[in-house]
Amino acid sequence: MAKLAHAQWSSRMTFVLAAAGSAVGLGNIWRFSYLVGDSGGAAFVLVYLACVALVGMPVLVAEWMIGRRGQKNPINSMVDLARQHGKSPAWALVGASGVLAAFLILSFYSVIGGWSLNYTLGSVIGTFSGQDADGVSELFGGMLGDPTTLLLWHSAFMLLVIGIVARGVTKGLESAARSMMPALIILLLILVGYGVASGHFGEALAFMFQPDWSALNGGVVLAAMGQAFFTLSLGMGIMMAYGSYLGEDVNLLSTARTVIILDTAIALLAGLAIFPIVFANGLSAGEGPGLIFVTLPLAFGNMTGGTLLGLMFFLLLTFAALTSAISLLEPVVEMMEERTSMPRVTATVVSGITVWLLGVAALLSFNVWADFTIVGLNIFDLLDTFTSKILLPLTGLGAIVFVAWCLKRESVEAELGLSATGVSVWNVIARFVAPIGVVAVFVAGLI
Ligand code: PHE
Ligand code: NA
Repeated sequence: MAKLAHAQWSSRMTFVLAAAGSAVGLGNIWRFSYLVGDSGGAAFVLVYLACVALVGMPVLVAEWMIGRRGQKNPINSMVDLARQHGKSPAWALVGASGVLAAFLILSFYSVIGGWSLNYTLGSVIGTFSGQDADGVSELFGGMLGDPTTLLLWHSAFMLLVIGIVARGVTKGLESAARSMMPALIILLLILVGYGVASGHFGEALAFMFQPDWSALNGGVVLAAMGQAFFTLSLGMGIMMAYGSYLGEDVNLLSTARTVIILDTAIALLAGLAIFPIVFANGLSAGEGPGLIFVTLPLAFGNMTGGTLLGLMFFLLLTFAALTSAISLLEPVVEMMEERTSMPRVTATVVSGITVWLLGVAALLSFNVWADFTIVGLNIFDLLDTFTSKILLPLTGLGAIVFVAWCLKRESVEAELGLSATGVSVWNVIARFVAPIGVVAVFVAGLI
């Protein structure tokens, strides 16, 4: 990115779409709902919302600020800013660990993106129509147990990502996101309506918002914080890179609010769509990563117009997954281009294949390598846990601490466009609330 003459986003709208394109993805629908189900519902949801507001929002603003001040890729921006402020260039580690996280996340993200592609095809050919709960569970179990199918779809998804990034046509996708995002929301609303009609909406509502605090423990809180980072694409330098294209006139706080409200609304809608189906069909909320792939086909397979709606839904989900996946591969490719002076296409193919290989290991953990575990986790869970619960929070912590403690007050004032009182409030949150929150959750979760 540093090589470009640093063109800026044509408008705030384009920037919001790019940031939302990265944020809104499988995390909102697949990962959020399965974690809610796994972690006992409302207690998780409320802690998650608190993490988004008290940690996610300041870290998002901090990452954009570093990018806009530094005007370079995440690593170089950190080095430059650290030098300017008389700090150690070791701060660049924050940028580097972000790139590592992006690389690891994409490997398993692509496996799930493949599931979504497979289910798009399944909707077209009517695989789900008329299925009951046992039927859809069997279909899902059949896919998981079949490494060839998983490999095929993971490869297809990764090929799409590599193709798009290699051609450098990622910008064209933002305009597509403009119509896809509302369409996704409308489909989710239809599903929520279906849930209301099922008569089990009240149960779902209670499950998601009436906390049973006894379900809360350090592990759940850490999972909620990890999800806050994951869903907002934080702790990977992605938002830093985007920030470097951000015009001076764009208000960081209000833009962050827009992106966060959109991302959170989509996650909550997904939950409100999925849990009525779970309860109406006597499925288990703690089903795990398969949750949306057993509940949604059940709804689409049995509602009027379900074939078309199912096709549209999984297509939109795949598209949302693609825009997120692209934003994950981009920083890896850019770093390779700059460090090795490989041409873009080579850098994309090399990093894409490496990610793909790691993804193969992840998908085998659903079948042939199911018994292979490290610290009690299979490869898929290990990649997911190490990134969301450790790397992302640590990198995000680095970003917020750097902005809060190393940047000059004038810079912060100029960046945020706040009054003196506003800056003081920001300082309290950025210096104490957010970092202490991350560290506390971290410690609680690891013991
Ligand atoms: N935020 C995306 C989602 O919720 C996933 C993602 C994570 C994308 C990290 C980019 C970087 O699906
Ligand atoms: Na998200």
